[in-house]
Amino acid sequence: MMVFTYVGYFAAGLAVQVLVAKILKLCWIVLWRPYALTKSFEKQGIKGPSYSILHGTLPEMKTLLKAANGVILDTNCHDIAQRVQPHYNRWSAEYGEVFLFWRGVQPAIRIADPKLAKQILSDKSGAYAQPQFDHRLLSFAGNGVGQLNGPDWVRHRSILTPAFTKDKLKLMTKRMAACTIDMIDDWKNRARIADHQHITIEMSEEFKKLTCDVITHTAFGSNYVEGGEVFKAQDELIHHCVATMADLYIPGSRFLPTPSNRQMWKMENNVNNSLRRLIQGRLESAQARGNLDGCYGDDVLGLLVEASKTTNKSLKLTMDEIIDECKQFFFSGHETTAKLLTWTVFLLSLHQEWQERLREEVLTECGMGIPDADMVSKLKLVNYTIIFFF
Ligand code: HEM
Repeated sequence: MMVFTYVGYFAAGLAVQVLVAKILKLCWIVLWRPYALTKSFEKQGIKGPSYSILHGTLPEMKTLLKAANGVILDTNCHDIAQRVQPHYNRWSAEYGEVFLFWRGVQPAIRIADPKLAKQILSDKSGAYAQPQFDHRLLSFAGNGVGQLNGPDWVRHRSILTPAFTKDKLKLMTKRMAACTIDMIDDWKNRARIADHQHITIEMSEEFKKLTCDVITHTAFGSNYVEGGEVFKAQDELIHHCVATMADLYIPGSRFLPTPSNRQMWKMENNVNNSLRRLIQGRLESAQARGNLDGCYGDDVLGLLVEASKTTNKSLKLTMDEIIDECKQFFFSGHETTAKLLTWTVFLLSLHQEWQERLREEVLTECGMGIPDADMVSKLKLVNYTIIFFF
C-alpha cells in the first residue's frame, strides 16, 4: 500500500514537473523569445511591425493582402509589389530594406538589399542554414535539396548534379524547343478555328502549361504523361496550401482532422502515391531488362531511382526522399520560369522597339530554323534582356 502511495506521489510530481516545463516552454516561445529577439534586433538597428501574441504579424499581413486584392494596376505599371506583396511594400517603406516580421511565432528577416542578399546566398560558412520549414510548404514543395542542410544537402546535390551536365542541358534544349513549337502550333490552330477573328490568349496560363510540359519531359522522360498527371495533382495541393499560409498555425493542429487538413492529406496522399507508383514502375521495368547499367533512364527520375539501388551510402536515397525530390523539382522550376516568361513578354509588349531588336538577333543567329543549344548561347541580347527583366 505504502509503495503505491510513493509511486502515486512520484507520478503526480513528475506530471506537475512536465506540465510546468511545457507551460514555461510555451511562454518562452509565445512571449519571451519574441520580446527578446525584437529587443536584440532593435539594438542592431533592425525594426519591424509589432508582434501580437501567437499571431505575430499575420493579421496585418492578411488585412493588407485583402485590400490589395481590389487594386487594379495601370497596364504600364511595373510596381507589382504593392499588388502581390503589399505587406512587404508597406513594411519596407516604414522600417527600411531589412526588417523583422513574424509568421505566427516564427521570426523572419526580410532583406531587400541586393548586396546583402548576395552575401548571404553565396556564403559558404554554413552560418545561414535553411530554416525549419512550415509543414504546409514541405507537403507541396517536398523536403528536397533546396530545404536540406549539411551532409544531407551534399548527398542529394551529388546525386542530382549529373542531371544538369552541359550535354544533358543540350538535349533538354531540343525538348524545350519541341514543347514551345507545340504551344505556338496550338495558338495558330486556335486562330485558324476562329477564322482570323480576334482571339485572346492568356499568356501566364500558356507559359505555365509550357514550363509544366518541359519539366515533365526532363523529369520523367518516357513517363511524361503519368508525370504530368502527378504535377497537376501537385499544383492543386500547392494552391490549397498557399491559400492557408497566412492563417495562424497552432503547433500540433496539423494533426487534427479539420476539413482543410483532411483535404490536404487527401491531395498529398494522391501525389505521393502516384509518384510511388511511377518509381515502382521504373524499378520493375529495369528488373525486366536485367538491371543493366543506366537501365533506370537518363532523366531526373532515372538518376533518383538509381540512387535508391546503390550500396554506396553517401549516394543513396530512400523512396520518400525520391518523392520529395520529384516534388521539389516541379515546385522550383515551374512557376518561377513561367512567371519570368510572362513578365518578359509583358514588358516586351510595352517596349516594342526592344521586341524588334531581339527578333533581329534571333533571325540573325537562328535563321528560320529551330534554335539549338549552340544558337541559344549566341543570343546575347535575348539573354541580357531576360536577366535584366528578372
Ligand atoms: C526564373 C527561374 C528561377 C529562379 C528565379 C530560381 C531561383 C532560385 C533561388 C533564388 C534559389 C536559391 C534558394 C536558396 O538558396 O534558398 C534556387 C534554388 C534551386 N532551384 Fe531555382 N530558380 C529558377 C528556376 C529553376 C528551375 C527551372 C529549376 C529546376 C528545374 C530549379 C531548381 C532549383 C533547385 C533544385 C534549387 C536548390 C538548389 C540547392 O539548394 O542546391 N530552379 N532557385
